[in-house]
Amino acid sequence: MPLQSIYWKDGKIVIIDQTKLPKKLVYKTLETVDDVAEAIISMRVRGAPLIGVTAALGLALVAYKYRHDRGERILSELHKAAEILRKTRPTAVNLFNAIDRVLEVAEKSLDPAKAAIEYAVEMMRKDIEINKRMAEVGQSIIEDGDVILTHCNTGSLATVSIGTALGVIIMAHRLGKKIKVYATETRPKLQGARLTAFELVREGVDAYLIPDTAVAHTMKTKGITKVLLGADRILRDGTLYNKIGTFQIAILAREMGIEFYTVAPTSTFDLKSSRADVEIEERSPKEVIYVSECQIAPKTIKIFNPAFDETPPEYITGIVTEYEVLYPPFEESINRLFNRIEKEG
Ligand code: MRU
Repeated sequence: MPLQSIYWKDGKIVIIDQTKLPKKLVYKTLETVDDVAEAIISMRVRGAPLIGVTAALGLALVAYKYRHDRGERILSELHKAAEILRKTRPTAVNLFNAIDRVLEVAEKSLDPAKAAIEYAVEMMRKDIEINKRMAEVGQSIIEDGDVILTHCNTGSLATVSIGTALGVIIMAHRLGKKIKVYATETRPKLQGARLTAFELVREGVDAYLIPDTAVAHTMKTKGITKVLLGADRILRDGTLYNKIGTFQIAILAREMGIEFYTVAPTSTFDLKSSRADVEIEERSPKEVIYVSECQIAPKTIKIFNPAFDETPPEYITGIVTEYEVLYPPFEESINRLFNRIEKEG
């Protein structure tokens, strides 16, 4: 069974506190919107789809608290909470998409609290289904003998269920496909070492953890056939925003003729923004100066700590979604998919 990273329980949110992994599997209860904001900022919950669901449930917490108030009060409290949540992390578009959807549904309803709660809980449930569909769609690109390189964490701990890129990998393994996986450590927050390695070991996948600096050498010497990783935002033309290090992996993959796929639900697409609109999160210098509690650099060195980077569409072989695998030219294939979704309702 995949781990479930988040639950809604009697008007409270229960999460796996990912900062404690892999040493301890600890659950934490979030009771207020400030608890939720803190959990997102400190990365107790992280990963684009999970951040979106957590923010939606954060609004559900507020709706639950004011559920006996009618009309204006509930909507103004929801908007206040939305502003707090929007300021948590800037790059993953799932956060903003989720907040906008919950507010829209509440505003249109005669019972905004009930509507917001039901919509957020349904978003969590739907993520499980979407994960499964993405993992199934992704099987068309995985063959026996594939040696896959993955980056950051895109599994159960980045979503509500099996995951995005790691979901495709884990399903391939469960189906008995003969695959081998190389996962990067993903400095500075070590999502690959702490979380992806934890999930791969739990599933019994034939996997190796490598330092981020070993990507080119591993591609060259270990017969990597495919790169599979996630996305925090994909623009209308296929420009990909994902965990820092993604762009250098894409460049290396192209140089060595290795296929490069991103796996993302349609909630990770941003059809409105252009590259100039996207803010790349920069995080605390402490994340680079310290590993855990251990100081590894002088405290006074200047630090640049971007959490994400931008990969242009020409580096991408395909985008696996819950509907289909999109291929270049992405402007056309993305447009076609979203027209289809609109028509099908
Ligand atoms: O900073 P994080 O850990 O939230 O970043 C996560 C990633 O970059 C993932 O690759 C991305 O969110 C896709 S997760 C399904």
